[in-house]
Amino acid sequence: MGIKVNEKESFFSITTQNTEYQFKADKFGVLKHLWYGEKTECDMEYLLDYPDVGFSGQIYDAADDRTNSIDTMPLEYPCGGIGDFRIPAVRVVHADGSTALDLRYKGYCIKNGKYSIPGLPAVYAEEKKAQTLEITLSDTASDTEVILRYGVLEELDIITRSTEICNKGSSPIFLKEAASLSLDIPFGDWEWIHFQGRHTKERVPERTPLIHGIQESSSSRGMSSHHQNPSFVICSPDCSEQAGKCYGGFFVYSGSFQTRIELDQLNQTRAVMGINPNLFGWKLKGGESFHTPEAVMTYSNEGFSKLSHNFHKVIRENICRGKYKLAERPVLLNNWEATYFDFDADKILKIAENAAALGVDMLVLDDGWFGKRDSDTSGLGDWFVNEKKLSGGLGSLVEKIKALGMKFGLWFEPEMVSEDSELYRTHPDWVIKIPSRKPNRARCQLVLDMSRKDVLENLYDSISAILKSADISYIKWDANRNICDWYSGELSAENQCELPHRYVLGLYELLERLNMDFPDVMIEGCSGGGGRFDAGMLYYCPQIWCSDDTDAFERTEIQYGTSFIYPISAVGSHVSVVPNHQTGRITPFETRAVTAMAGSFGYELDLGKLSEDEKQAVFRQIERFKKYGPLIHNGKYYRLSDPTTENYALWEYVSEDKSEALIHGMVFRTVPNMKRIAIRAAGLSPEGEYMIEGSGEIYSGAALMNGGILLQRTWGDHCPVEIHLIKQGV
Ligand code: DGJ
Repeated sequence: MGIKVNEKESFFSITTQNTEYQFKADKFGVLKHLWYGEKTECDMEYLLDYPDVGFSGQIYDAADDRTNSIDTMPLEYPCGGIGDFRIPAVRVVHADGSTALDLRYKGYCIKNGKYSIPGLPAVYAEEKKAQTLEITLSDTASDTEVILRYGVLEELDIITRSTEICNKGSSPIFLKEAASLSLDIPFGDWEWIHFQGRHTKERVPERTPLIHGIQESSSSRGMSSHHQNPSFVICSPDCSEQAGKCYGGFFVYSGSFQTRIELDQLNQTRAVMGINPNLFGWKLKGGESFHTPEAVMTYSNEGFSKLSHNFHKVIRENICRGKYKLAERPVLLNNWEATYFDFDADKILKIAENAAALGVDMLVLDDGWFGKRDSDTSGLGDWFVNEKKLSGGLGSLVEKIKALGMKFGLWFEPEMVSEDSELYRTHPDWVIKIPSRKPNRARCQLVLDMSRKDVLENLYDSISAILKSADISYIKWDANRNICDWYSGELSAENQCELPHRYVLGLYELLERLNMDFPDVMIEGCSGGGGRFDAGMLYYCPQIWCSDDTDAFERTEIQYGTSFIYPISAVGSHVSVVPNHQTGRITPFETRAVTAMAGSFGYELDLGKLSEDEKQAVFRQIERFKKYGPLIHNGKYYRLSDPTTENYALWEYVSEDKSEALIHGMVFRTVPNMKRIAIRAAGLSPEGEYMIEGSGEIYSGAALMNGGILLQRTWGDHCPVEIHLIKQGV
């Protein structure tokens, strides 16, 4: 298996199928990072050759060895306060107010299987498919111990990280910062990619050379956010989809995070990712421990495609859970853009009838079915059916929808409350709000204090009562604002800084309980679209509504960026009407369909309002999604173009055995009097012969990957592309 130890040298090597990760404790017990990259099967310490750098001091034990500086050496888990002036991974305040921590190697152990983390989502694996390495470090002057955990999924080229900080003494210590991942890369020139955006424009990749000093991508919004994503890529300047070196990391966490990348005085790179320390503090009494959330890393020297494939596989197979994780997802129709708040049972039933006739599997009733909820100004928190809108109740509506041969799904926004609601009038103390201040309002709503047991109990009771009242197969779990005014009536003044993390723990506890008690109900995550699109949520919800922007053109960029880290099956994506409700743009129906098929597919419109031709098109699109769905979700995904810079967005799904491939996408603008576009396929078998379905043309995989495929001439804008390649003789 992948973990090798040379005890005499205190040297550790973690090897996966294509990568190697090395560190060692030096003669003083300082844990130095040596290598992450290709397999070398060689102790890479020989490359660490340092000059005497002015103003970079030594730990006391190093005496007059002025080249041995804690400020320049690559370190495995750097501590604050002892002379490494780069980004620390951990900072504490001791009972005497001092803030240094000097962690030295104490011991290790190797376990079969993958560790889990109490109360937090984490990668899981069969015992024979993973190993865990635990390294124990202890402080030279206090009773603080730190356990670094590495989970190794050898076949997937995945290494996971989590840290446990233990107060082994009797006086309390105060954690100010506890990162999940720290990665020093002492060699090479690197660029950084992070995924930025805003509501309706999430996860657009931004690639920049590193500058000296610290660059950061983070959220302080209480959620992972629309604005920056808890993931990063560090790549060589020449890195492309198919070639070049790149490191990737993502955080299995849904709250405020921080990723910082530092280029130091010796042109070395350090990446540190964890809970955002600006919104974090944790008191550890004697005998207590704190577990950081998990971070997941991979390395590829075959470009971004391989990095994405590693991440897609581990998220789909080792993070997502439940019966839907690898199952075909239902084609759903969501009524939000069809009706907004303006519906009653008859209208919903009519929409369902039209949907059922065209092959839709599930009707999802969105916002507005509960309490007093005719606009976004009231009703959140009152999770009981609004009988004025749904006369006869939910049970009768669901039975009628089921009689059409469809399943039924329902929208909730459990973490939120409207001031104009019965819940708020009864429990005004349940919201996150500073008693002496007026709280910030967003979408007219406040946020429930998810750290409180009574709040969780109430939410569990009301959601489970609804789930038991009717045959509900799916929940859309929304969250339409970010969190500020942090204060909990349940916490003492010195513990208030724990609230943001306790909120996330409470959210996970509730989701876990619902997952366990209602295993047949699939939960789709959502936060005003993709405001909480992270691997933490994917542990509980195998798909997440990717963006409130349903415009196919915009979606190509959003889904392009999302695909670097997250698998296609995780992306909720729907066909909606034109002019599009977010942009006013008109795109062809077929283009909207191929774009929405790059995900867990559905519709968000009133199918009854379509022309007969369009209805027939819907019927055929659903048939096609049923045919291609397994290839789309289980195949390898390749980005064939960069839609942020090129005149087309094209992507490809290739089956694991390379026997078929499907290219989808759109050409943004037709250019007259120009040669046809030749798009290079990827991932095919070079010596295989592939037939283009429809035209019957046959070319070798090598030709299609190196020369390309000529696209049809286009007419108009946003023209759809669909090319199905079938390997001959299979
Ligand atoms: C935001 C979601 O992203 C939408 O799809 C819709 O569910 C609305 N909230 C409902 O309020």
